[in-house]
Amino acid sequence: MKISFAAPAMPKSGALVVGIGAGRKPTQAAAEIDKLCDGMLTRAIKASSKFSGKADELLPVVAPPGVPVDRIILVGLGDLKALDAVALQRIGGGLTAHLNQVGASAAAVRLDGVPAGKLAPGDAAAEVALGARLRSYRFDKYRTKEKPTAKPTLARLTVMTDADAAAKSAFVDRDKLADGVFLTRDLVSEPANILHPESFAARCQKLSELGVEVEVLDEKKMRKLGMGALLAVGQGSVHESQLVVMQWNGAPKAKDKAPLAVVGKGITFDTGGISLKPGAGMWDMKWDMGGAGVVTGLMAALAGRKAKANVVGVVALAENMPAGNAQRPGDIVTSMSGQTIEVLNTDAEGRLVLADALWYTQDRFKPTAMIDLATLTGAMMVALGTHQAGVFANNDALSKRLVAAGAAVGEKLWPMPVGDEYDREIDCDAADMKNIASGRWGGASIGAVFLQRFVNKVHWAHLDIAGVTWSDKDKPTTPRGATAFGVRLLDRFVADHYEGS
Ligand code: BES
Ligand code: MN
Ligand code: ZN
Repeated sequence: MKISFAAPAMPKSGALVVGIGAGRKPTQAAAEIDKLCDGMLTRAIKASSKFSGKADELLPVVAPPGVPVDRIILVGLGDLKALDAVALQRIGGGLTAHLNQVGASAAAVRLDGVPAGKLAPGDAAAEVALGARLRSYRFDKYRTKEKPTAKPTLARLTVMTDADAAAKSAFVDRDKLADGVFLTRDLVSEPANILHPESFAARCQKLSELGVEVEVLDEKKMRKLGMGALLAVGQGSVHESQLVVMQWNGAPKAKDKAPLAVVGKGITFDTGGISLKPGAGMWDMKWDMGGAGVVTGLMAALAGRKAKANVVGVVALAENMPAGNAQRPGDIVTSMSGQTIEVLNTDAEGRLVLADALWYTQDRFKPTAMIDLATLTGAMMVALGTHQAGVFANNDALSKRLVAAGAAVGEKLWPMPVGDEYDREIDCDAADMKNIASGRWGGASIGAVFLQRFVNKVHWAHLDIAGVTWSDKDKPTTPRGATAFGVRLLDRFVADHYEGS
């Protein structure tokens, strides 16, 4: 879909979208067009008892008289003063889905005369465009027999605003952000026979085209560094584990500034290993690399928009398979930190790969803060469901900043506890710690305190994204499937706290 911006005008064909505010109050453009088509919009609203002008509502008016367009779509804007970036993105996404469903190939959205809360008109138009683009994502590369009529139709979307030049330039960075989101969604959607640690690393290498410095550590290098925990997870796989380091140095005085570090769990498939998972639903574990997918997409977004910040992304890639040479329950491994771990459950593998990735990252980069993302625990899904992710941290200010960034972009985080009581639960007789607790409760916090033992003294936050990485339902800016939850949040976090002068 091609997205462009233009001054308000009557399109010669296609679909035209105009806004209606709360209480069925027409925007200026809606009133103007209503006159041209002899009051048909007013009559359509009257005839539709359910359409009230609330945000996310749509009312199609097909074949209107007096205008050259095929259809006019009335879109609810709700309370105009409450229109913020997320609301505008949702509107853009919702109308894109509708236009694709009804078979429209071109559409124009009139945003002139829509005062959008605190946003400048150009920014408001760019947010609608971003929402439209985010919703247009599709992972269909393996569908060879889809009927043409079932495919999305919308090829061109024009957002019309008096501030079209400002909107166009405001969209440039947002378009790069969407590129990053799409990269994450592509990675998360790929099946594990295609995306394994080496092929994932190869996709990371491509980020060098954007100016990202990419290094791949293979098993030999990791063995030399003493990454016994990470290597144990992948030892039963025919694919070599990989650790990829991606550096974006965009800060003005690049060399002087310690980076922000972002670390992702990248289990390209999690069978559970010898502690094998049940068969039903195991296919979901192709997205157990969601954290690594977010880190990679974030690096692409930051480099794409030339963010003025130093950020290092690290992804820990391994495949957790049962095999004759796989690790066994009860094995004791030595991590790069020197701490030993009794692996009582080979299905608690994310924390093992992250143990070495986190230690390595803080040791090498001395980051100002370190954030990890991981589809770490089923317990996280039990606690928060699929609408919010949990944030665990050893630093309150960092946690609050992440929660605020999430709220601003519509990727909500809920603070979860770490602490001594949880930490004591992984003390162990045979080694420095065990990778699971003895009891069943508080599993998401148990995973977090395990990770905390590998962050040394660095300010650290852990996002357990198990519940939000994949969606079974369409959402306004996210079609069902891979969500890329975390990319927009961290892009915002970087913009708010690392790009100041
Ligand atoms: N990747 C899973 C967690 C997961 C489950 C993510 C479902 C998304 C959806 C993780 O490696 C795992 O298996 N965790 C175990 C930990 C347990 C053995 C302590 C779990 O949550 O059951
Ligand atoms: Mn597991
Ligand atoms: Zn896992």
